[in-house]
Amino acid sequence: MICSRLQTSFLLFLTILLIICVSHGVSQSSNHQEMVMGREMLESVGTNESYTENSTLFLAAKRTYRRDPTDGFKRYRGGWNISDNHYWASVGFTAVPLFIIAAIWFVIFGMSLCLICTCYCCCPKEPYGYSRVAYALSLGFLIFFTITAIIGCVVLYTGQGKFHGSTIDTFEFVLKQGNYTVDSLRNVSGYLDSAQNITVDKVFLASDMQTKIDNIQTRMNSSANALATRMDSNKHKIQKTLDTVRLILIIVAAVMLFLAFLGFLFSIFGMKFIISILVVIGWVLVAGTFVLCGVFLLLHNVVGDTCVAMDEWVQHPTAHTALDDILPCVDNATAAETLLRTKEATHKLVGVVNQVITNISNINFPPNFAPLYYNQSGPLVPVLCAPFNADLTDRQCSPGEVDFNNATQVWQSYVCQISATGICATVGRITPDFYTQMNAAVNVSYGLYTYGPFLVNLEDCSFVRDTFSTIGKDYCPGLRRYSKWIYIGLVLVSSAVMLSLIFWVIYARERRHRVYTKQFLVR
Ligand SMILES: *[C@@H]1O[C@H](CO)[C@@H](O)[C@H](O)[C@H]1NC(C)=O
Ligand SMILES: *[C@@H]1O[C@H](CO)[C@@H](O)[C@H](O)[C@H]1NC(C)=O
Ligand SMILES: *[C@@H]1O[C@H](CO)[C@@H](O)[C@H](O)[C@H]1NC(C)=O
Ligand SMILES: *[C@@H]1O[C@H](CO)[C@@H](O)[C@H](O)[C@H]1NC(C)=O
Ligand SMILES: *[C@@H]1O[C@H](CO)[C@@H](O)[C@H](O)[C@H]1NC(C)=O
Ligand SMILES: *[C@@H]1O[C@H](CO)[C@@H](O)[C@H](O)[C@H]1NC(C)=O
Ligand SMILES: *[C@@H]1O[C@H](CO)[C@@H](O)[C@H](O)[C@H]1NC(C)=O
Ligand SMILES: *[C@@H]1O[C@H](CO)[C@@H](O)[C@H](O)[C@H]1NC(C)=O
Ligand SMILES: *[C@@H]1O[C@H](CO)[C@@H](O)[C@H](O)[C@H]1NC(C)=O
Ligand SMILES: *[C@@H]1O[C@H](CO)[C@@H](O)[C@H](O)[C@H]1NC(C)=O
Ligand SMILES: *[C@@H]1O[C@H](CO)[C@@H](O)[C@H](O)[C@H]1NC(C)=O
Ligand SMILES: *[C@@H]1O[C@H](CO)[C@@H](O)[C@H](O)[C@H]1NC(C)=O
Repeated sequence: MICSRLQTSFLLFLTILLIICVSHGVSQSSNHQEMVMGREMLESVGTNESYTENSTLFLAAKRTYRRDPTDGFKRYRGGWNISDNHYWASVGFTAVPLFIIAAIWFVIFGMSLCLICTCYCCCPKEPYGYSRVAYALSLGFLIFFTITAIIGCVVLYTGQGKFHGSTIDTFEFVLKQGNYTVDSLRNVSGYLDSAQNITVDKVFLASDMQTKIDNIQTRMNSSANALATRMDSNKHKIQKTLDTVRLILIIVAAVMLFLAFLGFLFSIFGMKFIISILVVIGWVLVAGTFVLCGVFLLLHNVVGDTCVAMDEWVQHPTAHTALDDILPCVDNATAAETLLRTKEATHKLVGVVNQVITNISNINFPPNFAPLYYNQSGPLVPVLCAPFNADLTDRQCSPGEVDFNNATQVWQSYVCQISATGICATVGRITPDFYTQMNAAVNVSYGLYTYGPFLVNLEDCSFVRDTFSTIGKDYCPGLRRYSKWIYIGLVLVSSAVMLSLIFWVIYARERRHRVYTKQFLVR
């Protein structure tokens, strides 16, 4: 009698302890207090924009102002920095309450199971002391926690579906951007490849210029190939990981739902033996679910930090941040310089082509001007439309000029057939050799003109900033919301199943007392 009362009150005490633990864990996890304190700290330091911009900017500093167990539990101030172990330690620490709950639960409930077992074995006397209130209360709690567990499973299941969807969307967006980069690099590399064809007579390009273009072209092609290879290999890995996570969560939701339902059913029908088995299974599963919950809390926090960090990085293009260690971006001035260089190269190439057309092809030299004379005849060749003025500002094409898109087509009709001596035997102003070189020059200048701004965007990370900005705006809210759903679903499921477990035991006992009392009274 004393033994059984002791057990019941012990289990109730355990329940209260766990409720306190869980609510503490949840409140801690949302980091509210810490965020408020962090903000105050930052405001007291003062955010002088010019000061912040020039020195190192700690990304997501407010969010990441957490206790760092590897640094004597002092607050971590380094901001979002995935190369910093202290960052990971401090993020990991946010999940510790849940791990502690899992451990406490595992130990204490294990101990109480042993206690109940031994109590049951050494004092197997007939129970007595049925209380209507205790019976009703335990039944009420049992129903309540079972329903909570079912709700938790629904939240978890819905959350994992949406989370999977939004991670896949985000991932595909990133892939698309990578794909676009690879495509562009390959295209421009293809155009610059034509530089090899310009040399034939060294009329168009100086050979050092040509070597430079060749080097750039090779580098672009290898970058594009490396990027494509890396994307391809990571694509499958990431997809596999996402599918595995999804599968695990679905299994957890299904098993917990099943467990809660079975436990409820069997304790209502008072099947003591099955209940004991379920209690042992549930004991381990609840501990595991709490650990999973901690992992998802960690993930949720890292996702949130990363989103904020990306946002701040986009907003502070000149500050030095942890992301700059990962992404080698050049500063704005260098980027502007590069853009100017590509414009200059385009302008020069077009100028050379046009000079050849106006000074050689379109002039009827007498035969004694040997290299320049090649029996040019027929209508004048239209010049190429220069996209820039001499000061490299944009220029409109004049009438009668051909543009990059169809210059090669148009010039085709001015090509003559050459005789054995290398001069035009038919009407025309361009030899096939010249035609090839002019084509190549058009290709190179077209490539530089069309892809120059893109290359500069890659160089100064505008492209990455745009990508991050879109991720932050369109994908982050979903990722954050649904990782939170999963985490909340897991908390709900694990706490509800945990408490149901306790009430299975309590209810089974009360029910036994009730049955016994009834029999006793009848007798
Ligand atoms: C910000 O810093 C600049 C230069 O360090 C200083 O001149 C300016 O007064 C500061 N502004 C504020 C609001 O502290
Ligand atoms: C910021 O740094 C740049 C160059 O690094 C320097 O020219 C400028 O004066 C600095 N500005 C402030 C406010 O310190
Ligand atoms: C670009 O994406 C498409 C489909 O999304 C894919 O078939 C193609 O191989 C990708 N290209 C590169 C270079 O990755
Ligand atoms: C690359 O070139 C192909 C063929 O010219 C074109 O269809 C494609 O749109 C280009 N890709 C990019 C990113 O410019
Ligand atoms: C780029 O590299 C690939 C593989 O190394 C090669 O097959 C291709 O011809 C190269 N393309 C250009 C334009 O250099
Ligand atoms: C010009 O570029 C196109 C596309 O990259 C290529 O197919 C063509 O062979 C190039 N022409 C010359 C003359 O290099
Ligand atoms: C160079 O010109 C030749 C002849 O027109 C052409 O077959 C070849 O594709 C060109 N080379 C490149 C790299 O464009
Ligand atoms: C990020 O962490 C690494 C490793 O601790 C450190 O070297 C680097 O300076 C940090 N970056 C920033 C911006 O604090
Ligand atoms: C340099 O920065 C300014 C403003 O931050 C921006 O408008 C401009 O486009 C940038 N230049 C380059 C080449 O990225
Ligand atoms: C082409 O003509 C311009 C002026 O008409 C002259 O300055 C230039 O030197 C000439 N170039 C060649 C290659 O003859
Ligand atoms: C060349 O393209 C321009 C505009 O892109 C067009 O107006 C012109 O008719 C084209 N010429 C030929 C010969 O196709
Ligand atoms: C020069 O071209 C004309 C056609 O425009 C042709 O009749 C003549 O035979 C050519 N002269 C030589 C020396 O090939």
